[in-house]
Amino acid sequence: MMALAIPTYMVLGAWCSILVISSWTSFFFCIAISSKSSLDLEAQALLESEWWSDYTNHVPTRCKWPGITCNDAGSITNISLPTEIQLGDKFGRFNFSSFPNLVHLDLAAHGITGNIPHELGTLSKLAHLDLSSNDIHGDIPLNTWSLRNLVTLNLARNRVNGSISPFVGQLTKLKSLSLGANLISGYIPPELGRLKYLIHLDLNNNCFIGPIPVEIGRLNSLQYLSLGMNKLNGSIPLEIGNLNNILYLDLNTNNLNGVLSVLHRLTSLIELNLSNNEIFGDVPLEITQLTQLEYLIISSNKILGSIPHDIGKLSKLLVLDLSRNNLIGKIPASLSTCSNLQVLTLSYNNITGSIPSHIGDLVTLDLIDLSHNLISGEIPSDLGKVKYTRVLDLNHNQLTGTIPSSLESLQSINLSYNSLEGEIPVSLHYTPNAFIGNEYLCRGQTHCYSSSRTSSRLRTHMKIFLPLIAVLALLCCAYVLLRRRWSCCYSETDAIKNGDLFSVWNYDGKIAYEDIIEATEGFDIKYCLGTGGYGSVYKAQLPSSGRVVALKKLHSLEANEPEIRRIFKNEVRMLTKIRHRNIAKLYGFCLHNRCMFLVLEYMERGSLYCVLHNDIEAVELDWTKRINIVKGIAHSLSYLHYDCNPAIIHRDVTTKNILLNSEMEACLSDFGIARLRNSTSSIRTVLAGTYGYIAPELAYTDSVTEKCDVYSFGVVALEIIMGKHPGELVSSLRSASTRSILLKDMLDPRLISTINQQSAQSLALVATLAFACLHSQPRCRPTMQEVAKKLVTRNFPSTKPFEEVSVREMVNQEL
Ligand SMILES: *[C@@H]1O[C@H](CO)[C@@H](O)[C@H](O)[C@H]1NC(C)=O
Ligand SMILES: *[C@@H]1O[C@H](CO)[C@@H](O)[C@H](O)[C@H]1NC(C)=O
Ligand SMILES: *[C@@H]1O[C@H](CO)[C@@H](O)[C@H](O)[C@H]1NC(C)=O
Ligand SMILES: *[C@@H]1O[C@H](CO)[C@@H](O)[C@H](O)[C@H]1NC(C)=O
Ligand SMILES: *[C@@H]1O[C@H](CO)[C@@H](O)[C@H](O)[C@H]1NC(C)=O
Ligand SMILES: *[C@@H]1O[C@H](CO)[C@@H](O)[C@H](O)[C@H]1NC(C)=O
Repeated sequence: MMALAIPTYMVLGAWCSILVISSWTSFFFCIAISSKSSLDLEAQALLESEWWSDYTNHVPTRCKWPGITCNDAGSITNISLPTEIQLGDKFGRFNFSSFPNLVHLDLAAHGITGNIPHELGTLSKLAHLDLSSNDIHGDIPLNTWSLRNLVTLNLARNRVNGSISPFVGQLTKLKSLSLGANLISGYIPPELGRLKYLIHLDLNNNCFIGPIPVEIGRLNSLQYLSLGMNKLNGSIPLEIGNLNNILYLDLNTNNLNGVLSVLHRLTSLIELNLSNNEIFGDVPLEITQLTQLEYLIISSNKILGSIPHDIGKLSKLLVLDLSRNNLIGKIPASLSTCSNLQVLTLSYNNITGSIPSHIGDLVTLDLIDLSHNLISGEIPSDLGKVKYTRVLDLNHNQLTGTIPSSLESLQSINLSYNSLEGEIPVSLHYTPNAFIGNEYLCRGQTHCYSSSRTSSRLRTHMKIFLPLIAVLALLCCAYVLLRRRWSCCYSETDAIKNGDLFSVWNYDGKIAYEDIIEATEGFDIKYCLGTGGYGSVYKAQLPSSGRVVALKKLHSLEANEPEIRRIFKNEVRMLTKIRHRNIAKLYGFCLHNRCMFLVLEYMERGSLYCVLHNDIEAVELDWTKRINIVKGIAHSLSYLHYDCNPAIIHRDVTTKNILLNSEMEACLSDFGIARLRNSTSSIRTVLAGTYGYIAPELAYTDSVTEKCDVYSFGVVALEIIMGKHPGELVSSLRSASTRSILLKDMLDPRLISTINQQSAQSLALVATLAFACLHSQPRCRPTMQEVAKKLVTRNFPSTKPFEEVSVREMVNQEL
């Protein structure tokens, strides 16, 4: 009767101890039974999950299945699936309660759909959970979770909604919480302040409302805080100033107000982005104490006062964007000591004074935008010294004086709506609307920008100079007549008379046929650099000036082919229309039955294709140079498509048609099959484009648009960063296996060891834009204008470490 009163577990316990005591063999047997059953449950759950459907016949070896790690007892501790396994709705089939020892679960970018299961909360040992970049929706069931050991929680880039439950405060061991790019709404729970080990907090790009909780200021370890692109309001809490380990603070695009002085204590801050808010007050002088700053972005706020005169103390600055505020005062001269500056944007303020000439010392500047201010004085000619500057925008200011011809080294300028005067230097890339609104500015004698005063001045000048011009013209005619005797090339008037094509020796005004013959000893083979699709290229040093030029000459056989002659003439027609730093310059040409050649700028390093195929030269072409080449080509195409009227479509953008000069800067060449948009007289030929670079739509239509060049640019950009033609990658962008390729594995292996944080950012950006250009639908591709602009102004918006960025993120990334 007593035995009945004893609870069952005691009976079982006693039974087991009897076994233990009775024999050692039985003891082992006892342990084995209990642990085998738990392992069996794991094995069964693995089978039922169907995640490893190729391995179901090898259950005993499951610890060696791809992505699985076990502990010594054979229980699974780590699941980190290889990216080629895609899960879809199979995520829900996983029986989480069968994995009591799981510490690490990484299922980022596995195509998971559906909700986050409550059962996930039973993984009591779980420390790392990464479900980012999937298609998960529904809310985060934090209230049912007991994941007290969680250190990393990453759900970024999904469609998670609902609000964050206060239970988040119980995940006290969290170091990294990433919920960016979801649809989470509601208030940011103050309970986050309890996560005292938090280093990384990303709530960026959601729908959070209300204030930033002051409790965030307690997160002493925080290094990365991103609350950008939400609907937060109220003032930036003073307590944010306590985050003295913070490196990266992004509060952009909210409705936050308050004053900037809150932030000057954040002395370890590398990146500060507060753009698009309602922040007011003066720029605090103390901001110059944040000497580690690389990005200072406070655009589109209500900041008053002037830029601190010692802004130059921020010597690590890469990007300074204070545009669209209410700033007054001058641009401090000390800015020229920020020797790493790449982007300087101060547009839409009331800045006065002149442009400090020493800005030209900032050779790394990529973009200077001072438009819509009250800046006066002359444009310093030193501005042309900046080495990589692509864009100089000074429109809507009060600049006076003439335009320095040194600005020819810039790729895109806008000087409209100023008070500039004089002639626009012929060497400048000419786009009419870059100069409008300058009353006294002229181009040539005919295209003066308005007004009565200019033309009356012109008339006065004409009265004085007309007789002189007449005499000169007579002399010129005599010269041309004499010259013709021993030159095979015709002057323009002759050409029209004879119905033949004309030649223009516009380089130095005095290259002559016999100079060319002398320099090449009659096109001797020893001056030949190579033979291309049509014609050969020779190198010639002109006897008169010592200048080296490239000559592209048709062979006599080819010159008799009407089609090839047409291509050749077409190239001349195109190249005489255009002038751009990244387009091969045409100095002159000769189009006559007996001699057909072009005189072009000589590019010392030859084609990009050859450089990429030479292991020594490819290493010399470091990441900075490569990114620069991508930018240069993007700008040249944007120029052809948008600044030329009618637009020019190149139609054969390949690495073979990109030439490099001695400094490895790129020029687009070979305009043989280029054509004007909407022109019906296209060159129809087998040579229309190069296999591997042609947009797919050209297989079924012959509608050539700018978007064909955009596609080829995408291929070229990838080729530049990969070091080889992307091949299959381009056509398989939709496949899961391509999408799982990591960026680091795509890049040119010859340079991979030289990657740093900055080049990694730029490379991810280049790849992202290239993928957008490769979209199979032409209308979905960006325009070259957009690409050129984004290459200069955008950052790759990922919070992932570079090593983890895969094609998937880049293909889906919106910039
Ligand atoms: C889990 O496995 C992955 C891939 O094998 C490995 O990179 C990671 O370090 C492992 N994590 C742990 C905690 O063992
Ligand atoms: C999951 O596994 C547990 C045992 O670990 C079992 O009790 C439960 O029934 C399983 N759930 C499902 C849905 O199979
Ligand atoms: C902030 O937004 C919330 C919700 O939209 C609103 O209720 C509150 O009044 C706003 N607070 C301020 C200071 O504007
Ligand atoms: C510049 O000053 C004028 C006149 O005071 C003012 O109307 C305008 O709003 C100011 N613009 C900016 C961007 O601060
Ligand atoms: C220059 O700026 C003016 C005024 O904003 C604009 O109308 C024009 O299109 C711009 N030109 C170029 C070439 O960007
Ligand atoms: C040229 O073609 C484009 C696109 O087909 C069209 O939008 C544009 O109006 C055309 N322009 C002219 C001048 O025909």
